[in-house]
Amino acid sequence: MSHCICLLSIAAKLNLMVLLLSAVYFCSCISDNIPKFALATKEESDLKDENGEESVREDDLDSEDLEVFYPTHQWQTVRAGQAVPAGLHVRLNLQTGEREARFPDNKNEKSDIEDEKKGKRLGKIDIDSNSFTSQELKKALAKMKESGKTESTVEQKANVEDVRKRFRRIEELKEEFEELNMRIETDFEVMVKLINKFNSSASTLAEKVAALYDLEYYVHQVDNAKDLLSLGALRLLINGLNSTEPVLKEHASFVLGAALSSNPKVQVEAVEGGALQKLLVVLATEQSLAVKKKALFALSSMLRHFPYAQQQFLKLGGLQVLRNLFKEKGMETLHVRVVTLLYDLIVEKMLLLEDSRNDDDHPQTKEKVEQYSQVNLVPAVVEQGWCVIISNLLGLPEHDTREKVLKTVHVLLAFCKDLYQQDHDLSATLTLLRSEYEELAAEEHKEGDRDGYFKELLNSINTIIQELK
Ligand SMILES: *[C@@H]1O[C@H](CO)[C@@H](O)[C@H](O)[C@H]1NC(C)=O
Ligand SMILES: *[C@@H]1O[C@H](CO)[C@@H](O)[C@H](O)[C@H]1NC(C)=O
Repeated sequence: MSHCICLLSIAAKLNLMVLLLSAVYFCSCISDNIPKFALATKEESDLKDENGEESVREDDLDSEDLEVFYPTHQWQTVRAGQAVPAGLHVRLNLQTGEREARFPDNKNEKSDIEDEKKGKRLGKIDIDSNSFTSQELKKALAKMKESGKTESTVEQKANVEDVRKRFRRIEELKEEFEELNMRIETDFEVMVKLINKFNSSASTLAEKVAALYDLEYYVHQVDNAKDLLSLGALRLLINGLNSTEPVLKEHASFVLGAALSSNPKVQVEAVEGGALQKLLVVLATEQSLAVKKKALFALSSMLRHFPYAQQQFLKLGGLQVLRNLFKEKGMETLHVRVVTLLYDLIVEKMLLLEDSRNDDDHPQTKEKVEQYSQVNLVPAVVEQGWCVIISNLLGLPEHDTREKVLKTVHVLLAFCKDLYQQDHDLSATLTLLRSEYEELAAEEHKEGDRDGYFKELLNSINTIIQELK
């Protein structure tokens, strides 16, 4: 509590910019002593899997913006990745899942309390924001460098005056910070705290959700995800999947999905820990779209590039579980994601087999080929009637959906050929799409784009029509 008060008093005395600046100066003095400070910022490439999985990325993962949150006395939504300066009043809006922050307002204590009460009713909670995490500082730094460039000289001068008037020597501030024991936490320390928060029976549901929400940010990094294992937190997350609270199911899936993504160690432990069964139960039972969306995200991360899990998935009837999502009302937004997953898994195996023909002496390749030979996804897909389920999605209006479905139809063509050749609806749809994209491709061409997006779609439609003749 004393931390909080001191920080607030600093914030009140100095303007916020100065506070941030001093924090940055301060940290640049001590960063040599902090082992994990030089964190790589989360790169785009970390978010993309090899197949450029877009549909999962778009709302499962946060957009990357190196930004600082500029507080006012009004509640404002804190966007993902924004650094929140210490000492602000932060709350989580449970209905939207968004964080909101503002200056603590002593003058309006009454309305504050009222707001608080209202907040409780609306499902909003306060979050402690008294410490900078290393990410936050790093982001604040990046943003400040940028804004420093664009600021006009007049403003800069005014700022300098301001600083001179109110700013104390760095040394003094350093002492103050040291007194506050404010320092940059390593990822590991933050994760330990978050995991304890999630695991503590004293934590409220909202606090647990907030802890998972933050944890998700950290586990994108492969090493952090491995720490999850050594801390024994994977077990907690897997148990979260069958929590009685849907919101915990959702967020546990979210963290798992991020941790599993391109991380074989976590994939192996998760599958051995029974995560696959639990995810399938979530997908097979009555749950909200939000919960199923995240469970599908986690399932996808679990299966990609992990033939053993794919084999288990088929054994456990996972394909039927996914097919039932097509019968369930309100789950339409999951359909394209499911098709994309199947496409990725089918292509993954094909590419491996192709590679192995060029490189079949390599023992690792041999082992992989052996593992993938146990995954009989395509026969199961054909047998369970996916050919038509998938081609029916060509009726959807979005171009990128059609693109994904066309790719999948194309890859399944050899196996679904008989069905597709007899499918009059499909040939009618393809003819319609062809004329639509002929027009769009022509426009694209007129605008100078010879090998544009629509041309590509048109080509793939023509190829399918040709091969079905
Ligand atoms: C979670 O809490 C329980 C009971 O307090 C404890 O035994 C367990 O070690 C904790 N797990 C983790 C991963 O912190
Ligand atoms: C979740 O599953 C585990 C077994 O994996 C079981 O021990 C636990 O009681 C279940 N929790 C709930 C809330 O059903």
